Amino acid sequence: MTTDPRLPAPNHLELLNVAKNFGSTQVLRGLTLSVQRGITTAIVGPSGSGKTTLLRIIAGFEAPDAGTVALAGRTVAGDGIHVPAYQRNIGYVAQDGALFPHLSVGQNVAFGLDHQEYPRRAARARAAELLAKVSLGASYADRRPDELSGGQQQRVALARALGRRPSLMLLDEPFSALDAGLRMATRKSVAKTLAENRVTTILVTHDQSEALSFADQVAVMRQGILAQVGSPFVVYTRPADRETAEFLGDAVILEADLRGSLAMCALGGIPVRRPTCQGKVHLMLRPEQIRIAEGGSIRGTVLETDFFGPEVTVKIRLEGGFDAVGDPVEGAVVTIRHWNAMMARVGTELHLRVVGEGVAFPA
Ligand SMILES: Nc1ncnc2c1ncn2[C@@H]1O[C@H](COP(=O)(O)OP(=O)(O)OP(=O)(O)O)[C@@H](O)[C@H]1O
Ligand SMILES: [Mg+2]
Repeated sequence: MTTDPRLPAPNHLELLNVAKNFGSTQVLRGLTLSVQRGITTAIVGPSGSGKTTLLRIIAGFEAPDAGTVALAGRTVAGDGIHVPAYQRNIGYVAQDGALFPHLSVGQNVAFGLDHQEYPRRAARARAAELLAKVSLGASYADRRPDELSGGQQQRVALARALGRRPSLMLLDEPFSALDAGLRMATRKSVAKTLAENRVTTILVTHDQSEALSFADQVAVMRQGILAQVGSPFVVYTRPADRETAEFLGDAVILEADLRGSLAMCALGGIPVRRPTCQGKVHLMLRPEQIRIAEGGSIRGTVLETDFFGPEVTVKIRLEGGFDAVGDPVEGAVVTIRHWNAMMARVGTELHLRVVGEGVAFPA
């Protein structure tokens, strides 16, 4: 295939209207996604929404019923084409790791290496290097997979996949079995390795904060389609709909009356960026936008608190009031976060202030 040098390079991965059924269950219902070379995309979505199925279709272990998959501008699935998995140069770390049980950890990792580039001794050294990248010491090389925890097995599978130097890496919840500290360290080290080698990465995760911190692009999956695709900042601060808002983090949702770009609600008049609806709306704010502030114009009473260590969540009953044109606004209950548990004891009267803009969804 010749390419015109004047044209921009095609996206690394292009999914167009991909559909997949298992029996009478529609798992993917016409899913479209573009992934530029070298970036990391996180796919998030509820259990059973089709995330693993999508990765298996990209990898070539399943064929789509409709739609196409293209890699670097070349169709690899759909339109009567099916390029087998081993010809796609894709690394795939399955949700369950899937190691060879009869090989040692070191042999599992070395299995992925190019044996011309890494003959015996060099392969051992390279395997140790790859294990270090996933935070496993060299002493693990001689163990058997059944002597490892679930999280360790997953990391060995990841090291094996990294060893193949794929141009596209698919990771299905690779960090889900790790505890918080190890998870952060392994994630950072893996992200660094992938970025250094300019590997395009697609990461499936249940963990919203992992998606927002790891990825350049977040794709929110729901019932077999992508509800929203955008930068972490955009999907978090300007979610496309209420379900996406609530899926990506805590959300305060209030009844509001939107006139122009000002939403009147129990928190007063809140500016809304580029509203797409008017009148009765559901206004969404992130809890961190509502601050306890002396002299703040909104008053409320603490109903309940929940201590989490670095912060406390505070449930507050807001007083009602009147809006800009003198119509009464009913009180409401909101839950916010605060760093100081002492400031927010049950029964305390607080003053609040809102920072930033809200997002309006049709009521
Ligand atoms: N081989 C299969 N045969 C029949 N049904 C399947 C098959 N694979 C997946 N499914 C069904 O397709 C749906 C999507 O499954 P999938 O594994 O893609 O979900 P997921 O988003 O990865 O979920 P999780 O977050 O729990 O891993 C589920 O309802 C599942 O039961
Ligand atoms: Mg899955």
